[in-house]
Amino acid sequence: MKKMINLIETDNKGIQAAESYRKIASNIEVANIDGNIKTIMITSTLAGEGKTTSISNVASVMTEKDKKVLLLDFDLRKPTLHKKFNLSNQMGLTDLLLKKDDYKKYIHSVYPNLHVITSGFLPANPSKIINSIAIKELLKKLSINYDYIFIDAPPVMIVSDPITISTYTDAVIFTIAYAQTDKDLAKKSVEALKNVNANIIGVIFNKTPPIKGNKYYYKYY
Ligand SMILES: Nc1ncnc2c1ncn2[C@@H]1O[C@H](COP(=O)(O)OP(=O)(O)OP(=O)(O)O)[C@@H](O)[C@H]1O
Ligand SMILES: [Mg+2]
Repeated sequence: MKKMINLIETDNKGIQAAESYRKIASNIEVANIDGNIKTIMITSTLAGEGKTTSISNVASVMTEKDKKVLLLDFDLRKPTLHKKFNLSNQMGLTDLLLKKDDYKKYIHSVYPNLHVITSGFLPANPSKIINSIAIKELLKKLSINYDYIFIDAPPVMIVSDPITISTYTDAVIFTIAYAQTDKDLAKKSVEALKNVNANIIGVIFNKTPPIKGNKYYYKYY
C-alpha cells in the first residue's frame, strides 16, 4: 500500500492525484462491466504527455480493488517503466519473447498484486516484435493469470507501434496533456486508432492546472 502512494506523491505532489487515479481505475472497472477487458494499452499523440506516469499510477491503485495487475513496458523505442519503479532492465519482454522463456522468470513483484515486466533489450527493428505471434500468445497467457495487463506504448505520431498494438489489445486509454498536446495532432492520432477499430475506453487529461481542481480528468467517448 505504502509503495503505490509513494509513487503517486513523488510525481504529483499530493493525495489529490491519488484520488484522480482511483477515479480512473473505477471508470475502467465500469467500462469492463461485462468482464471482457484484460489488456489495456496507453498511448498519446507525442512524447512526454504523461503516459508512463499515468499508467503506472492507475495500475498501482487498481491493486487496491483487489485486482492482480501486470504492467508491461511495450515502449521498445524509449522504455522508462524500469526507471519509474527502480528496476533492472537486464531481462525483460524482448528477451523473454526471443528466448521463448517462461514469463514468470521476468516478473518483478513491486507489490504483491502489482507485477512489472520491463522492456528488455531494445531491438533494431521493434516492428518485428510488435507484429509477432509470440507477443499475442504471451498476452493470452498473461490474461489467464492477471485481472488486468496495462501496456505502456509509444506515442501515435512518432511510430506506428501503438496502432498495431491496439489491434490485439482489448482497450486503449489516450492521454492528452493540458497546454501541451496539439489539438489537431491529437485528433489525427485518435482517428488513426479508430481506423483500426481500437477500443478507446477513455481519455486522461493530464497536467491540468491545480487551480481547476483535480489534476486528472477521465472522459468517456
Ligand atoms: N500529471 C502530471 N503533472 C505534472 N507532471 C507530470 C504529470 N504527468 C507526467 N508528468 C511529467 O511529465 C514528464 C513526462 O511524463 P511521462 O514520462 O509519464 O510521459 P510519457 O508520455 O510516458 O513520455 P514518453 O512519450 O517519452 O514515453 C515527466 O517528467 C513526468 O514527471
Ligand atoms: Mg513513457
